[in-house]
Order: sequence, then structure tokens, then C-alpha cells
Amino acid sequence: MKLALISDIHSNLEALDAVIADARAQGADAFACLGDIVGYGADPVACLERVQSLAPIAVIQGNHDAYAADERDLGDFNPLASKATVWTRRQLTAEQRSWLAGLPLEARIGREITLVHANPSEPDSWAYVRFPADGALALLDQKTRLCFYGHTHLPMAFRQLDDTVLQLTADAYNLATGERWLVNVGSVGQPRDGDWRAAYSLLDEDGDRLSVHRVEYDLATCQQKIVAAGLPARLAERLAVGR
Ligand SMILES: [Fe+2]
Repeated sequence: MKLALISDIHSNLEALDAVIADARAQGADAFACLGDIVGYGADPVACLERVQSLAPIAVIQGNHDAYAADERDLGDFNPLASKATVWTRRQLTAEQRSWLAGLPLEARIGREITLVHANPSEPDSWAYVRFPADGALALLDQKTRLCFYGHTHLPMAFRQLDDTVLQLTADAYNLATGERWLVNVGSVGQPRDGDWRAAYSLLDEDGDRLSVHRVEYDLATCQQKIVAAGLPARLAERLAVGR
């Protein structure tokens, strides 16, 4: 299979549809979702249904999915995330919320690959893996040679070379060298690396190469929907600058 890894969709239907179309055009015949289907954007229901319609080989629970699924306290969420989560809870059906609540925090593909949302050390701590020290600590706890994650909305990779961990940002990574890799697949619906285009990754058929793809989408429509829904305007504005 040629596997498309999608993460951090954040209720951005325009970005999700553009990514699905691009992945299929690139030959993807399977999908895995690394979490945060909902939160921030205006289309939580449609994005959830779209992900389900892909019949993904795995769907991981993200922190926004967990927070939208029940009525837990939002004390550690920033104000923008809290407002969007309260709104998202009202859009989803009870069945959809219970589906989100039941998603696993990690999944395996074969013997070599782990999928998580935030980190392989303590997936439900939602700790961020952004810097070399984060990557080095996470790689220590990683149970498989390869691990793919999301959460930071920053596509990047950590490669273990003997006692050193290299942090890399590239369009593609050669995973066939036998080393341990921890790779962030990028964010579909709210990139934060300064590039507004939707991001996702593709794993080739033999699992040797991971490529990162960027896709333009109908940003204006997405922004208009966020404003029309009464969500904070900042959530629409940030999409244009990829922050
Ligand atoms: Fe996220």
C-alpha cells in the first residue's frame, strides 16, 4: 500500500478535500489519521465524516478530539482553542463524540511503525516534540524503529545516529538506512511553519521513503465559514500566514 499520513485537520474541510485529492493523484491507496480531526475550524462534522469515509487503517485521538468528545474542563487550553472546542461540542452528535472518545492514543503498522498524535513517550501528556532535546527523549521511549506523529503542526524529522539525534526538515526522508526515525507528518488544516498550504506525508509501498507534500486549497471559503460560524476571526486570519 501507498499510505497517506494526515494529521491536525482541525475542521478545515477545504484543506482536507484538497489533501485527499492530491494524495489519490499521487497514488495513495490507504490513509491513516494522526488526530485532531476537529477543533479551530468551522467544519467538524463534515471533516469527521470525511475521515470515516476514507476507511483509514488507523485513526489516532488528538487532544482536540478528546476535549471535544466530553465536557472536561478546558483549563489548560488557550482561549482560542477553548472557544472553538465549546462551539465544536455543540456541532457534533452524541454518536460522533463517543466515536472520538473511543479513538486510541497509538497504533502499530506492522513491526516497525508506531503512530501517535503528540509523542511516543506519554501520548496522553500531549507534550510537544519540537526541539532536538524533545526528539532525543522521545526516541528513547519509541518502541518501534519508526514513529510518525503530529500535534505541533510543524513538519520535521528526528534521526538517531548512534548517540546523536539530528533534527531535519526536508521534502523527503530515506527511512531505509536502518536508523530510528521520529517524523512529524505536518498539519492538513492549520500549518504553523509559515507556509499556509495544507501539509501531509506519503509513505511509499516498501516503507523506505517518506515524502512531505504541500497543497493549495480554497483558503477564502474556509476563512469565510469560520467568521460566519461566529468563531474568533483570529482563527481565520492565522490560516493565511501558516501560524
Ligand atoms: Fe493540532
